[in-house]
Amino acid sequence: MREHQTMRLEDTDAGIAAAAALLREGRLVAFPTETVYGLGGLATDDGAVAAIYAAKGRPAFNPLIVHVATLDAAKELGEFDAESLALAGAFWPGPLTLVVPAKPGSGLSDLVTAGLSTVALRVPAQPLARRLLAELGAPVAAPSANPSGRLSPTTADHVIDLLGDGRIAAVLDGGPCTVGVESTIVTTYPEPRLLRPGGLPVEPIEACLGTKLAIGPGAGGTVTAPGQLASHYAPTAALRLDVTKAKPGEVLLGFGPVDGTLNLSPSGDLTQAAANLFSMLRELDGSGADVIAVAPIPHTGLGLAINDRLARAAAPRP
Ligand code: TXA
Ligand code: MG
Repeated sequence: MREHQTMRLEDTDAGIAAAAALLREGRLVAFPTETVYGLGGLATDDGAVAAIYAAKGRPAFNPLIVHVATLDAAKELGEFDAESLALAGAFWPGPLTLVVPAKPGSGLSDLVTAGLSTVALRVPAQPLARRLLAELGAPVAAPSANPSGRLSPTTADHVIDLLGDGRIAAVLDGGPCTVGVESTIVTTYPEPRLLRPGGLPVEPIEACLGTKLAIGPGAGGTVTAPGQLASHYAPTAALRLDVTKAKPGEVLLGFGPVDGTLNLSPSGDLTQAAANLFSMLRELDGSGADVIAVAPIPHTGLGLAINDRLARAAAPRP
């Protein structure tokens, strides 16, 4: 049964208490992380997790990221080897998700892991997310708060646009996300591997481990990541990439000296570009142009995640 209104909860003690109470009841609450807004539900509640899949229209075989307040809370849900501990120690709280073997009997809904023996865990750094998770004291399953295949939301207004028809009970408004692309997903089992580029660049991860990361889903082939579907993160307009001069009728999303209708970062700062990526794509998509041309983005640091999202948005649609 759908209510017709989604509540907007403010960044106050009362807002956080209300969000935690709704989650405890098995309701869905979108909340800010430093990467993107998450569509949260209690990870131990089968009904809540099923409702997340329903709200997103997501294929049910895709496992979800579980958010917790601390590494200690994460250790109750998954097994950490020395390399995972090193990464958690260096980068949590932050825009890193670690895929580790799930601990049996942890109470997580089987729907969260979609039948895999591993679980994706994240300790976000966004202050409001941290206060919510601490107040709740329970794990929260949360994919990005967009219907499957749409651009990820980086403001509470985006969430209201996408899911505000009562599909979720509330959105906790923490302002715009500072990182702007989803977390980097890494596993160390059986060897260090990058499963999804994201808000934490690969270079510091490799420096921390003292080794290169393998890339992609790996030999097991068990990873079914929606972020790995070719046409994920699609706006309505078509995308043309690595463009320095727009054709007539195209709008140009600039970067650095390649200026356009909007510019991801006039100074060529990749951190600023990542933070602006989804909201600027959304704004240009709303302009009614058939094609969004995008300036070249370097493939270093956060540029890896930005280029990954752009390539998926530009891919042929199913
Ligand atoms: O920044 C983020 O990561 C955001 C915020 C809300 O935390 N969340 C997010 O979740 O992007 P979602 O569901 O859109 O992406 C989760 C990714 C998917 O690609 C999924 O397949 C992968 O994590 N994943 C989850 N569990 C996994 C597992 N056990 N093994 C491999 N990949 C897994
Ligand atoms: Mg997503």
